[in-house]
Order: sequence, then C-alpha cells, then structure tokens
Amino acid sequence: MFDQTPTELAASAARDIAHLTGVDQHDIAVTLGSGWRRAAEHLGTTVAEIPAEQVTGFRTSPVQGHTGTLRSVRMDDGTRVLVVGARTHFYEGHGVAATVHGVRTAAAAGVKTMILTNGAGSVDPERTPGDAILIKDHINLTAQSPLVGATFIDLTDLYSQRLRDVAHSVAPDLDEAIYMQLTGPHYETPTEVKMLRGLGGDIVGMSTALEAIAAREAGMEVLGLSLITNLAAGIQQGALSHQEVLDTGKNAEATLGPLLARIISAVSSSR
Ligand code: HPA
Repeated sequence: MFDQTPTELAASAARDIAHLTGVDQHDIAVTLGSGWRRAAEHLGTTVAEIPAEQVTGFRTSPVQGHTGTLRSVRMDDGTRVLVVGARTHFYEGHGVAATVHGVRTAAAAGVKTMILTNGAGSVDPERTPGDAILIKDHINLTAQSPLVGATFIDLTDLYSQRLRDVAHSVAPDLDEAIYMQLTGPHYETPTEVKMLRGLGGDIVGMSTALEAIAAREAGMEVLGLSLITNLAAGIQQGALSHQEVLDTGKNAEATLGPLLARIISAVSSSR
C-alpha cells in the first residue's frame, strides 16, 4: 500500500467535510488562533460543527486554548465559510505536511480566500498586548517549506495587498506588521529577540508562515491577522508563559470576534 500524497489526503479530507457538513464547496476559510475563536459566532448561521478528528488527517489539538472543531457557516449573503478551529503546529512533531494540511484541505474544499489568524509576541516595545494587527509580510525562520521538489512559488504579494485594503476599509486603524515564524515550542531568549528585531520583523509566533506558503501554492489569496498577546522575552518585565498568552486572548475575544467577522464580510463582498 502506498501512502497518500498531501494533495490526495487533502482531497479525502474535503470529501469528509462535504459529507459531514452537507456543504459541497466553501468559499472562504479562516483558521482561528489564540484570541480569535469567537469570530464564528458573529459570522452567520452555523450549518454544522464537526470534531476535527472525524476528518482525514486532522487531529485534536493537545494545546490548551486551541479548539478542535471544523465549522461550516453560511453568511447572510450566502457565502460559505469554513471555520478551522483545529491547527497542527510544527512543534507537535508531525512534520510540515501535517502542519499545512488544514490549508490544503480548505483549497480542496473549493476555498479561494484563506484567512490565517494567530497570537504573537511583539519584538517592538511600542506595541500593546491586546491589539490586533494585519500581517504585511513574513520571515520564515523555521528552515522548512511545505513545498517539495522544484516548486518555485512567487511570494511577492503573499499577504495580499488587495485583501489588506479590504480589511482597512472596515478597520482603518489596524496597523501592519512583519510576522516571523519560529518553530518553538520554547519562547525566545532575550538575545534572540534582539536579533529578531535586527532582522526587520515586528512580531513573532509559531504558526502561519508555513501555512501561508502552502495556501499560495494552492492558488488561494491570503489574509493574515495577529493578536499581540505579549511583548517578547526581554522586552516585557518578567517571564513569559502560555497562560499569559491565553489570558490576553481571552480578554481580547469579545472585540476580536466581531472585528474578524466584519473583515470577513468585507472580504466576501469584494469577491
Ligand atoms: N514568541 C513566540 N511565539 C509566541 C509568542 C512569543 O513571544 N507569543 C505568542 N506566540
């Protein structure tokens, strides 16, 4: 028996989603990171919500604060949104293909617009934890790629200027930042944070960049949003903790949910 390729696995997962939700095709997908979870409630009518582990290649997240379902939501304008509440992080040790399986599944389910959200630390001391920010570009510091072989994908406009303009049309105050992905799961040392600032990035996290690359390979337009959950190591007073990241996420949820829903509505109208 040969193993399935990542594309075949994503196609199987998309068939599972169609079967379990009764929705054959989705238009927009959104992956919910720390703090963004409640967006689904504001988007429209939940048609179905399924445990992630019922879908090929998905697993329940072992990380506290990360939910584990896939939801199919119908917006008032009829747009179908696939809300991916189950993310496999690279640090879980299942490899890059597993890390981007959610994104490839979205593409196989018909999605043309991939919205990636996360919680991130700020290496810029001027930023405020609790604020949301648009991702303008990334620096992939994982030394990994989801692409295998001679797959020379252009990333010039990876975090689509068009979609950032759409987001700004409903949230003009949103700043933009360069996101840096490290593998984690440890946080950075203060010296690494100084280095990261020197590299030209603004915020740092453990997801999103690899997913964005896979999304672009699959032909989707990408929008990225971060919640600043903390100032990075050595910038804030005292130690970092996952609990602090979760707490900031929890406190921001009530504003981030409606904000993301507004942005997704605007994205939907712009299609
Ligand atoms: N570093 C890396 N990843 C993170 C951080 C951080 O400070 N905060 C949330 N995710």
